[in-house]
Amino acid sequence: MNIGIIGFGTVGSGAYEIAKAATDINVKRILARHGREGYENLDDIITHNIEDLIEDKEIDLVVEAIGGIEPARTYVLACLNAGKHVVTPNKNLISAYFEELTETASRNGVELRFTSTSGGGIPWLFNLMRTKRCDKITQVRGIVNGTCNYILDSMYDKGADFAEMLKIAQDLGYAEADPSSDIEGTDTLRKTVISANIAFDALLKEEDIYCYGIDTIEARDIAYLKEKGYTCKLLMNAKLTDAGIKAWVEPVACPLTSLEANVKANNNLITLVGESIGTQSFYGQGAGRLPTGESVVQDVIDIRDGIKMEYSEKNSKKYAACSCDEVQKYYIRHNKMSEDIMSFIEKYEEKEGVFYCISKPISVARMHDMGRHFKEEGKPMFFASIRE
Ligand code: HSE
Repeated sequence: MNIGIIGFGTVGSGAYEIAKAATDINVKRILARHGREGYENLDDIITHNIEDLIEDKEIDLVVEAIGGIEPARTYVLACLNAGKHVVTPNKNLISAYFEELTETASRNGVELRFTSTSGGGIPWLFNLMRTKRCDKITQVRGIVNGTCNYILDSMYDKGADFAEMLKIAQDLGYAEADPSSDIEGTDTLRKTVISANIAFDALLKEEDIYCYGIDTIEARDIAYLKEKGYTCKLLMNAKLTDAGIKAWVEPVACPLTSLEANVKANNNLITLVGESIGTQSFYGQGAGRLPTGESVVQDVIDIRDGIKMEYSEKNSKKYAACSCDEVQKYYIRHNKMSEDIMSFIEKYEEKEGVFYCISKPISVARMHDMGRHFKEEGKPMFFASIRE
């Protein structure tokens, strides 16, 4: 199979390395602004013109690894409309334009695969689609951001400061170019949109999902939770209910005996619950050049070998987002005790002017609305739901 690659940065070149080892995959053209050091042998197949890929009848499939929304969206739509299959690790694009892109692929009778968008090298979406072929998925959840897990794990192990650990995660190359999307939870939110849409044949949008990240966490939150037998993790959550889909992203205080609590460094742990199969978890490297590149190439091989996946926009629109009325207890740390907060606090301790609170059971929507309100007022709090 002849393929083209759009973008020859970290993931594009990682996919090239893995593709070299696969039989019957020939990289015919690469769209890039310039060549890459160490890959001078590819200068002849590099082009600056997308038409060289689109008009080449011998290219059956294009890997889009340019990242971001534009020009990635225009290029992917052009490839699909030209009858070419597309594989992409671009979670921003798939999350933002899920419906348009899946619909365009379906209309043109070609495949659009994006296993590497969620979980990096872990075959999470592949197995989610596979499970769904003969089961009903009722829940997806887990740790899908390696940067946040690295920060939280180091803060727990070393009592380290948030900013210091973020800097190290950036230096190690785990974080996004703009790390605010990691720490504010947006990266996890995008992976939640994609995972939930696959799991439930849905068309959730980013704005359907409540999201609170770890950007307001401090070493004293980790110390408080550690003393009570918890460690903190940033989790995606999506559940299918009779009313629709509830989906949210938030920090969770996990008991030390839980699987999530024991996920070290930048690893991911992603779980599905199926009516027949029960609970299944997938663990491994959720980021990185070669793990992500391998996941991209596995999608290419599946398409080459005619392995069809269940997701199609024909199945979708079955379920919509519903109110996030899931009720849980929360740990809340705040510098100021207001009447608003007092109204749902079960107990609290005050130490040096800081309030460490445990809430009564309250809804995700109520807690997140309050967290957002205080952030907008410039008095951010930190909260984490408490997993029993
Ligand atoms: N910044 C992301 C992470 C990269 O840390 O998980 C992989 O999507």
